[in-house]
Formats: sequence, C-alpha cells, structure tokens
Amino acid sequence: ARVVVLLSGTGSLCAALMAADRPSFTVVAVGADREAPGLAAARERGVPTFVVPLADHPDRVSWDAALAGAIAAHRPDWVVSAGFMKLFGPAVLAAFGGRLLNTHPALLPAFPGAHAVRDALAAGVTTTGATVHLVDAGVDTGPVVAQAPVPVLPGDDEARLHDRIKAVERVLLVDTLDDLASATTPSDQPRSTP
Ligand code: GRF
Repeated sequence: ARVVVLLSGTGSLCAALMAADRPSFTVVAVGADREAPGLAAARERGVPTFVVPLADHPDRVSWDAALAGAIAAHRPDWVVSAGFMKLFGPAVLAAFGGRLLNTHPALLPAFPGAHAVRDALAAGVTTTGATVHLVDAGVDTGPVVAQAPVPVLPGDDEARLHDRIKAVERVLLVDTLDDLASATTPSDQPRSTP
C-alpha cells in the first residue's frame, strides 16, 4: 500500500515508518505544514516531500483544500498523521476519511489534545500509553484502532515520559499500519475477482 505521512516536528515516528521493512506498505511521500526537521530523513532517503504552510493561504478552508490536493498527488492508500499538529478540514476528511490515521501519545479518550503527555503527568496517572485511531472531524475523537500501555515512572518529566511513549508508539504505528495495509487491497494492484 502507498502511504503518505504528515508531520510537524522531529519526525521520529515518520522515520520509523520509512525504516520499517514491511512488504505491506511503502512511504511514498512526506508532507508538513512547515519546514520541519522531520523532512530531512525523507529527503535523505529520496522520498518526495511537500510543505503546505497555513501562512500561505488566506484561510483554513483554502489551506485544507491545498493540503488535500498535495496529498492526493501521491495517490495514497493510507495517510498517517505522525505528529502533525493541525486539525484536518472538510476537504482532507472527504478525500481520505476512513483511511486517515492519527497517532496520539495517550490512551484515548484520556488526555486528548496537544498536551497529552503533560496532562497525564499532571493527573498523576501511573499508566498512560499510545493510541492509533482513524481521524474524524473531532480532536482525537475518531475510532480507536490500536492502543498500548506505557508506565509513568517516579521522577518522570514530560520529555522522559514522552520518549518512553514514543518508543512504544513507533512499534504500535508500524504494526497497526502493517495490519491495515495487509487487510486491504492497494489501489495499484489488480483486485481479485470474487
Ligand atoms: C508523537 O508522540 C505524536 O503522537 C505526537 O507528537 C509526537 C511526534 O513525535 N502528536 P515525532 O515528531 O514523530 O518525533
């Protein structure tokens, strides 16, 4: 299956997807809403990249339409938001809903939003985790596809806990995408006649 990955930051999850040697999927392009450090790993591998900055558009509707077009140009079977820190609009959701995944560093529905790791620490939970879910119009509210627990340890700060979560999140994301990609016939292969 053809996969487009979207990121906004370091891109360690995207790097894990590109490094995963799974026959079920290939990262065919990496997109971002800004010039992000995570794009470098794709460029080093010769994987096409695209940047669609919100600031280049008069409003979110036109940004969302431009993003949908930039993603569609790579004919993805799956789109993965891996640390993409923008909410998708109607054009992206219409084009890729149902095959648009997000990964979140908490056990949704606990701790949705942009500060999940900080919020879990503040709440004093002893277990948090990672979630891969299908994206809908809400914030981290789509159907959960897979989750994995991660312990919170004494003395954890946000960075140390997030690193521990990401180590689990990388494996969860690769395995979940492998399962989904294996279960559906990619658009670029002949469909078996029933
Ligand atoms: C991941 O934990 C993701 O769930 C969250 O931001 C982090 C992205 O990390 N939204 P990276 O940019 O892939 O290193």
